[in-house]
Amino acid sequence: MARKPTPTGGRSRDKKPATSEARVNKPATGMARGSKPATNSKAASPRAVFGQRQVAPRMDAEEGNTPRRRRGDSDWEIRKRQWKPSTLLAPVPAIMVSCGGNEDFAPNIITLAWAGTVCSEPPMLGISIRPERHSYKIIQATKEFVVNVPTAALARATDYCGVKSGRDGDKFAGAGLTPVAAEKVAAPLIAECPINLECKVKKVIKLGSHDLFLAEIVSVQVSEDILDKKGKLRIDKAELLAYAHGEYYVLGKRLGFFGFSIKKATTKTRR
Ligand SMILES: Cc1cc2nc3c(=O)[nH]c(=O)nc-3n(C[C@H](O)[C@H](O)[C@H](O)COP(=O)(O)O)c2cc1C
Repeated sequence: MARKPTPTGGRSRDKKPATSEARVNKPATGMARGSKPATNSKAASPRAVFGQRQVAPRMDAEEGNTPRRRRGDSDWEIRKRQWKPSTLLAPVPAIMVSCGGNEDFAPNIITLAWAGTVCSEPPMLGISIRPERHSYKIIQATKEFVVNVPTAALARATDYCGVKSGRDGDKFAGAGLTPVAAEKVAAPLIAECPINLECKVKKVIKLGSHDLFLAEIVSVQVSEDILDKKGKLRIDKAELLAYAHGEYYVLGKRLGFFGFSIKKATTKTRR
């Protein structure tokens, strides 16, 4: 049976993660300094005060059985369960990293979710790979790779490259993807992905199950399909893929732009 395609190193979602149940009482926002929180049967517990913000203590479920109140009540509570430490950061990208493509290594693709931007100047990103992966050996030796950002239409190909190994065959052929020569690295781009980031490894850090490859982005290719007539990037057109708790999603509708929370209500566009 195929192994579950999780980058969490085998931690199954089905395992019972709960260690204890907790309950959080959240005070109403905007409460004036010194004013008392609304009382209920749990309100006897002390609340820490930082500046003007009251912070409700976390209470164990066993401590009481207060009925749940609705948001908008002057005092409401959220039940929380304390789980053991895990990688439950979501959503994360699901990217296809291409590597190899020189006389020593055939081109290969590995799907990764443990990846992210880590620096703006110079532009850098990090990818975490288990040493037992075929691609690890390639990237360790060549010190370069390409991050290919997939669309929802490429969800199946993305999953395929995350459950098959390049040791057993050509994943470009198996996933129906097209290798295209990159600009600054030997590893090929995946033509079907609208964004390709060519990377050169600067540092490798051993973390535990995974090693972190920190790399500089040395060239960026963007498909014309996601550019408007003026050449401006229309990322909303790309229908990018996201990954959360072992499942694939498509990036949904735009909710705002950087800084929109403090812009005047009349400002509709970004710049
Ligand atoms: C959605 C998804 C995300 C993954 N993320 C990672 C990851 O971040 N790091 C990793 O080492 N493996 C990750 N994997 C597993 C590898 O992609 C998988 O083991 C792959 O078959 C390795 O290919 P290779 O042997 O050709 O290198 C992921 C798999 C999937 C399906």
